[in-house]
Amino acid sequence: MSNRHDTPDVRRREDTNCTGEGNDGASFVITGIGELCDGTGSPPAENMAMVVESGRIAWVGPETNLPEASGAALLDVDGRAVIPGFVDSHTHLVFAGDRAREWEARMAGHPYGAGGIVRTVEATRAATTQELSRRAAGLAAEALAGGTTTIEVKSGYGLDVANEARLVRVAATLTDEVTFLGGHVVPPEYAGRSDDYVSLVCGQMLESCRSQCRWIDVFCEEGAFDADQAKAVLEAGREAGLGLRVHANQLRHGPGASLAVAVGAASVDHCTHLADSDVEALAGSSTVATLLPAAEFSTRSAYPDGRRLLDAGVRLALATDCNPGTSFTTSMSFVVALAVRELGMTVAEALHAATGGGADALRRDDIGRLQQGKRADFSVLDAPSVSWIAYRPGVPLVSAVFRLGELVAGTSPGLHP
Ligand code: NIG
Ligand code: FE
Repeated sequence: MSNRHDTPDVRRREDTNCTGEGNDGASFVITGIGELCDGTGSPPAENMAMVVESGRIAWVGPETNLPEASGAALLDVDGRAVIPGFVDSHTHLVFAGDRAREWEARMAGHPYGAGGIVRTVEATRAATTQELSRRAAGLAAEALAGGTTTIEVKSGYGLDVANEARLVRVAATLTDEVTFLGGHVVPPEYAGRSDDYVSLVCGQMLESCRSQCRWIDVFCEEGAFDADQAKAVLEAGREAGLGLRVHANQLRHGPGASLAVAVGAASVDHCTHLADSDVEALAGSSTVATLLPAAEFSTRSAYPDGRRLLDAGVRLALATDCNPGTSFTTSMSFVVALAVRELGMTVAEALHAATGGGADALRRDDIGRLQQGKRADFSVLDAPSVSWIAYRPGVPLVSAVFRLGELVAGTSPGLHP
């Protein structure tokens, strides 16, 4: 894979912010794409080219049809595969401490319980804002280097007014897709008074967080919040102008998935234990089912049935759920590999769910697909075909990451002079 043409001016931007805002974006023509996945779910296409103008995709198609582009810089990727930037629509990046011991115990056979969240809450409350920012920025940079060009970040390890407000402020320095998750679990000081805690979440806590957020989320599960409480949180969020997301049906069957559909949530996440009626409701709705198989991997539990959902016509996304308890990974490549190996999804379906599907889960039509007019957010793989993402699990194949046409992470022979 040698360089056959002049390299364009693809200077690397040294930032970890996942928004790319305030950046006019680069212009160049990219040729020699061995295989391109456009994030729409169509099969990958061979021998492709793409024209990037001011950070947007101006044209994409077979290289033989490439329009005349006078004077445009040429970037030849010499047979490498190109995929849309991953859209990781579910992370909990802002926290302190780790739960490696708990994970080790699980690997030795202990079951997961939502109670571990409280240990991370203790560590997070005790940490300085500077420390929280430094760690979250490190994880965001790790995600970006792995090809994630849009990331959603939740609060949920503060669980009091001051700490939740602190977490959403930190999250807002990393992304525009910030989610208020005051309704994660009931903190110890409210034990036995969960309705009082729900009132706090819907009142003062939401008021202190809403300006930094686009979304509200709630964990509707036994051990967290019941359907009435979850509904109250979601309705308060909607009233405050936020979009709705739900954590549900992770550990056992429950009312969360049907609630998410009933309230018109953008996404219901986990969906590991679904009744046929939940699947039917999802299929007839605009709510995306976001599967998080790295959580099942790290809790040593049964995976969701991606095949069943796809066959029923449910719209799917895949995300990492990056958090210290159930899924300490930022790697969307790993999630795609798990989806292919364990959820019954083809590589094309998994890549679609990790890119265009994630965009749908965030109700974004400017990202996740390599089509004319969308943002030029994409990755070049050190591989000749996109299936290598799953075929070579654990190998860092994402060699160059572009956001708005700017090289933001990685290097690759042929991409630098
Ligand atoms: O999405 N399910 C709830 N929340 C996280 C787990 C958080 C934790 O264990 O710290 C999740 O898996
Ligand atoms: Fe989660």
